[in-house]
Amino acid sequence: METIKVDTASRPYEVLVGTGLLERLGELVRAATGCERCCVITETTVGPLYADGVEAALAAEGISVAPRLTFPAGEPSKTLATLGTLLEGLAERELTRDDVVIALGGGVTGDMGGLASALYLRGIQVVQVPTSLLAMVDSSVGGKTAVDLSAGKNLVGAFWQPSLVVADVRTLSTVPAELFLDSCGEVIKHAVLADASLLDDLESLPLTVGDDTERLTEVVARNVAIKRDVVSADERERGLRQTLNLGHTVGHAIEAASDFSLGHGSCVAAGLCMMARAAAARGWCASETAERIERCVAAHGLPTGTDLPTETLMRYATHDKKRHGTDVNIVVPVEVGRCEVRRVSLEEFRDLIEAGR
Ligand code: GLY
Repeated sequence: METIKVDTASRPYEVLVGTGLLERLGELVRAATGCERCCVITETTVGPLYADGVEAALAAEGISVAPRLTFPAGEPSKTLATLGTLLEGLAERELTRDDVVIALGGGVTGDMGGLASALYLRGIQVVQVPTSLLAMVDSSVGGKTAVDLSAGKNLVGAFWQPSLVVADVRTLSTVPAELFLDSCGEVIKHAVLADASLLDDLESLPLTVGDDTERLTEVVARNVAIKRDVVSADERERGLRQTLNLGHTVGHAIEAASDFSLGHGSCVAAGLCMMARAAAARGWCASETAERIERCVAAHGLPTGTDLPTETLMRYATHDKKRHGTDVNIVVPVEVGRCEVRRVSLEEFRDLIEAGR
């Protein structure tokens, strides 16, 4: 098992990565939280696979388990209405401030369970138990929680750090191959941000859902360490944390313009390559840097660009919540392992999209 210690200003906690961790969840949760009672929040795909086992492990440690809360799987559930149902459910179960929510599932569950925990009784502890690659390497760590509004994704939320994150990589065996591959876009993004040797490893041996648990543990742990370094230095995204948005401004525009038919990680991968090519064209990084990034993305079979017209991308990018008045913050690679945030005008951003094609 790998243990990554995260030390944010609001709460220190550990991220545990390995195998056989779900069976030990009771002991791990008790050690991290001291709780006597908990409630599992999950969704209709992951719940039937893992919730019985998780609840049995919690009960075996003498932790009282309230009836679980399950919502329909998928991004369309990430609404204020579902959040309201979860909050009512916690209240019906009479959870107190000494009790703990266990958010069991992928990124949507982590966001929903995390936000419900942040709001209920003005905040109770949450243990994140991510079961998808995206949730393990990204969304379960760092305390971002959110629901979507009609106007856009993740527009309502809170920073609410978990008390513990338990990533049992054996759960990745039940992730559909296509979804796993899509999440590799975020893994490659982390490597470009802070770990050049990880990028080389990924290019020479692309990550797959069939990888053995040793490799999955190692790659997840390296990603968590990268994210830990960023969120420990800047919990609230005032500066360094913005670099985690590498590939996201164009990526979000591609995602929204494709009506979310393309996966988030694939869109980030395409946005990452476009920004890297644009940075090379401007002389902000060497062309070899952009080529290296593109080779790794292509090796995973992820898209390295988009055919969507620049004006379409601009229309969606200007609705991005990271926009500042008439400017937009973009993240560009300086070299593999080092990126920087630049504020550019929308006009300059349009030119960069063109330069990145
Ligand atoms: N997923 C980006 C962040 O957590 O800041």
